[in-house]
Amino acid sequence: MTLEITPLDAALGATVSNIDLSNPLSADSVAAIHDAWLQHIVLVFRGQSLSDPQLLDFTRYFGELEYPPYKLLNYSQGSGQKNDIPVEINVISNVIENGKKIGQLGASEAKWHTDTPFVERPPSASVLHALEIPPTGGNTSFMNMYAVLEALPAAIRARVEGKRCKHDVSHTSDGVLRHDYEESKDASECPGPWHPLIRSHPESDRKALYLGKRLYAYIEGLPIDENEELLDEIWAIAERPEFSYEHVWTKGDVLMWDNRCAMHRREAFDGNERRIMHRSQLRGDVPA
Ligand code: SIN
Repeated sequence: MTLEITPLDAALGATVSNIDLSNPLSADSVAAIHDAWLQHIVLVFRGQSLSDPQLLDFTRYFGELEYPPYKLLNYSQGSGQKNDIPVEINVISNVIENGKKIGQLGASEAKWHTDTPFVERPPSASVLHALEIPPTGGNTSFMNMYAVLEALPAAIRARVEGKRCKHDVSHTSDGVLRHDYEESKDASECPGPWHPLIRSHPESDRKALYLGKRLYAYIEGLPIDENEELLDEIWAIAERPEFSYEHVWTKGDVLMWDNRCAMHRREAFDGNERRIMHRSQLRGDVPA
């Protein structure tokens, strides 16, 4: 069977079929998947069944593994993940066992964000494997940040060109204060690294808008009210449906996306249902 890549009828994404990711991959398959990932930003592999080591082995074909945020930030509370889960795996789940959360993000909406922009070298890729999914809800949408940049009116583009944005580390993408951090007066005072608002993708050489998350983002040099106004204008464009693809999960799906040119959002689902996803990450570059 020959690996098949079928673009989705959306602003980004392609399905990769005729491949079992639990098997070793040929150099040709790895090259084809890598090229497709650069071109389509999000790849969808249906019907997979991967153990954690197999998920990590698949991810390693494309670079060096990166740790999940709890480890990169050295959370004093740890991850809450079970001891038999490899340290490179990030469990995304609402499930509570023996009174303890087994993973992150719960059942509420996870607002638009890119993964871990609040470190100096954010991960280039995330690979998410659906182990248990609720009957409805919990869809994940992806946004094409090349297309959003191209759609910015010239006047807005001129205001972000050459500017950096501070990526607040103290709050989650939903605005919740993380353990180990204190509340700041406003976004300009939040702790976090500066990254260019327009970044050049190191592999595709294309330029993409790099927003991270909406809440507590801060564009250098702006008074805070101007910052909020400009970001609101940019986000109103970015959130137009024409720039995104919404994925309806089935058990066994593996999605691999490029954090350098995509954002994603997860819709809420019924917290009485179980959703368990295991995520791996690839080490990225310092955005430039
Ligand atoms: C994530 O934000 O990485 C998780 C997305 C999801 O739960 O579908």
